[in-house]
Amino acid sequence: MTKITAKAHSNIALVKYWGKKDDGLRLPANSSVAIALDEAYTLTTVDFDESYKEDEVQLLGQGFEDDEVEKVKKHLDSVRKLASIQTKAKVVSQNNFPKSAGMASSASGFAALSMAAANAAGLQLSEREMSVLARNGSGSASRSIPGGVSVWHTADDDLSSYAEQIPYPPEWDIKVLLVMAEDTSAKKVSTTEAMAMAATSPYYQGAVLEAEKNILSLREAMVSGDWKAFGKVIEDECYRLHSVCMTQTPNILYWRGVTIEVFQAMYRLRDQGVEAFFTVDAGPHVHIVCQGKDIEAVKQSLKSVGGIKTVIECGIGEGAKLVSDHLF
Ligand code: PMV
Repeated sequence: MTKITAKAHSNIALVKYWGKKDDGLRLPANSSVAIALDEAYTLTTVDFDESYKEDEVQLLGQGFEDDEVEKVKKHLDSVRKLASIQTKAKVVSQNNFPKSAGMASSASGFAALSMAAANAAGLQLSEREMSVLARNGSGSASRSIPGGVSVWHTADDDLSSYAEQIPYPPEWDIKVLLVMAEDTSAKKVSTTEAMAMAATSPYYQGAVLEAEKNILSLREAMVSGDWKAFGKVIEDECYRLHSVCMTQTPNILYWRGVTIEVFQAMYRLRDQGVEAFFTVDAGPHVHIVCQGKDIEAVKQSLKSVGGIKTVIECGIGEGAKLVSDHLF
């Protein structure tokens, strides 16, 4: 069969996904909104061929853990089932950023894998069907299929829970700075395992309702072009996610000292009139959302913060697509 390579961008959630209403189908407890990041992506090449006796799975540069290999193989099984084939595959993947450290490598990874594997198996899926397939591998991957600014809908059945792009004011010239903490070591607990315990937080039910309200406020801010209201939701959502993490059993603290130092640098910057906002996924790294005109001021403000390994400047990334440069 044909060898296919796909490229998918990572995404940062503005309204967060944390908790499922159905673990098997990965149906999220609430809808979420994310921005795809143009400078953080995964490339994945898939080849189904009778010459492979077993699935071969490889992550260039970083290597996969055994449980990650199993997740990839399980996802290949879903694709084989859809395509009614039994052929084994070779999969080679490459990230241009550290994996498993709250940088959504699972999002770009499963989006790229879904697109490459489905096409290599001869399937012709719509964007919506591709988003559903990616969601079954990793929830946040559903949002890396449409790219741009997207909403991932919560729903009660498999085919109704997918992500699609939503409009945003282009004049904002949205930029996201990935502020990578020096500590990029892998997370001890996977997001799947950690999220499975979300409902043990006494604040969980309220937090899910709050997320739905925040989606409405965020969309309202984008329609009316209210940047400050947009930023308020982003930071409320950061604190909402981490309050659930910190109060679930066992407690999870993703932040490091540098994470809070960056928050404080943004508060100081706002006192000087620069409206830049922070958010954090399941790891210590901070994502700063700002406007293009303010990017130099934000970078300057980070110079006084210790413990930052690197800062990656991103614009809004496009949806997952096929590319012609294969990894093997
Ligand atoms: O689908 P996963 O396992 O990548 O979970 C993502 C969870 C968060 O990144 C913390 C929040 C989100 O909405 O992306």
